[in-house]
Amino acid sequence: MSEQAGALVLFGITGDLARKMILPALYRLTADGRLDLPIIGVARTDLDLDGLREHVRAACGGVHDAAFDKLAGNLRLVSGDYGDPAVFARLRDEAEGKGFLVHYLAVPPSLFASVAEGLAGEGLNREARLVVEKPFGHDLDSARALNAELLKYFDEDHLRRVDHFLGKEPVEDLMVFRFANMLLEPIWNRSYIRSVQITLAEDFDVTERGGFYDANGTIRDVVQNHLLQLLAILAMDAPPSKDARAQLDEKWRVLRAVQPISPADVVRGQYDGYLDTEGVRPGSTTETYVALRAYIDNWRWAGVPWCIRSGKAMPMTDLEIVAELRRPPVAMFANGGAPDSPNLIRFRLQPDAGVTFDLLAKEPGRQRTRPVPVSVDFTKVLGPLEAAYERIMADAVSGDPRRFARFDLVEESWRIVQPVLDLPDPPLVYARGSWGPQPAQDIPPGGWHEISTTFD
Ligand code: BG6
Repeated sequence: MSEQAGALVLFGITGDLARKMILPALYRLTADGRLDLPIIGVARTDLDLDGLREHVRAACGGVHDAAFDKLAGNLRLVSGDYGDPAVFARLRDEAEGKGFLVHYLAVPPSLFASVAEGLAGEGLNREARLVVEKPFGHDLDSARALNAELLKYFDEDHLRRVDHFLGKEPVEDLMVFRFANMLLEPIWNRSYIRSVQITLAEDFDVTERGGFYDANGTIRDVVQNHLLQLLAILAMDAPPSKDARAQLDEKWRVLRAVQPISPADVVRGQYDGYLDTEGVRPGSTTETYVALRAYIDNWRWAGVPWCIRSGKAMPMTDLEIVAELRRPPVAMFANGGAPDSPNLIRFRLQPDAGVTFDLLAKEPGRQRTRPVPVSVDFTKVLGPLEAAYERIMADAVSGDPRRFARFDLVEESWRIVQPVLDLPDPPLVYARGSWGPQPAQDIPPGGWHEISTTFD
């Protein structure tokens, strides 16, 4: 169901996520004329409404303009402890007569169920949608248990689970690239593709998030959610229609076909010095890097390794997908005995967005080939991209479910990674600024392709 919100209730309005992502997004949507509705902040804070407005202004970059005045005019505040039923009673009074409510929970997941229960206690789950931030569960069982709790108060049609990668324009571009063009589809299968490599590299470490990170690790933090969502978009069949449900069903179908990851297909790493981080347990075996192979057991992809790697303290910050094509059956152009480089299709998603085809051309004056990139930089050609949270917040308000994680997809993703969560062996230590432990380099057949650092 996608009922348009009459009011947005933002739990955790003074928290970190709201400050960094949600409030700036609400401001930009207001400035674009796309958002104008009461925003009821709920927070454990001693701020009054004026204090909250100043807090919001600071989060939006200290602006003094008409858009901010409009946003500030829409703000309301209910303060108190989320465990206190009186808070929900006050919220009910504040929400009275405002129509359909969207409750957005930018609070720790341990509070999701109790807030949902508190809302239901005042009837605030009727004519309402619940949006929860990540992480959704810690493993398959806990995700199911959390879902069962939330379903007591909100049905699936009225639940949204945020995966902010789904709000990224370049992620959606993948879908457009695949299904608005005919170019790729004939070769997008096991007959032509040798492997697919997905890299999410971050050049920073976990410094201020030691406690959170140590309880999770890379597989839970970004593979189970963001990177398996990417895999689903890349590997799915074309949906039979453009409605949201058809899209989500196809993603589910392909995830259903992904085999549980085998521990033999995983290399975990931990950057040197991680154990000295505040909040990290002594001797922790949490990974800050992972490289793995996943296999999709269906007609399109059987036998093709889908290689995923992600890590903190890497040489660069980058999100890129490289599909390697099989080589032609006959090597017509001798390269001094060396095999030709394979054709590559690169989708760059961060820090900039675009596509590059690595094709082979003849080197002038010589009888040999060389890979040449054929690229398009989307930002240069199409203009700046909208931020992920603008799209997430706009969808939270409108109810469009496409850019959220439906539970059956979340469940499949946990099933896929479940065998490699909490592996007993300690992760291999790697140097900061390196591409992870040496054995991880052998995860894709022939190794990882170098990341393209620029379009020029
Ligand atoms: C978050 C993870 O979900 O995604 C972080 O918790 C990670 O560890 C982040 O850095 C990456 O997202 P983005 O949008 O900053 O690339």
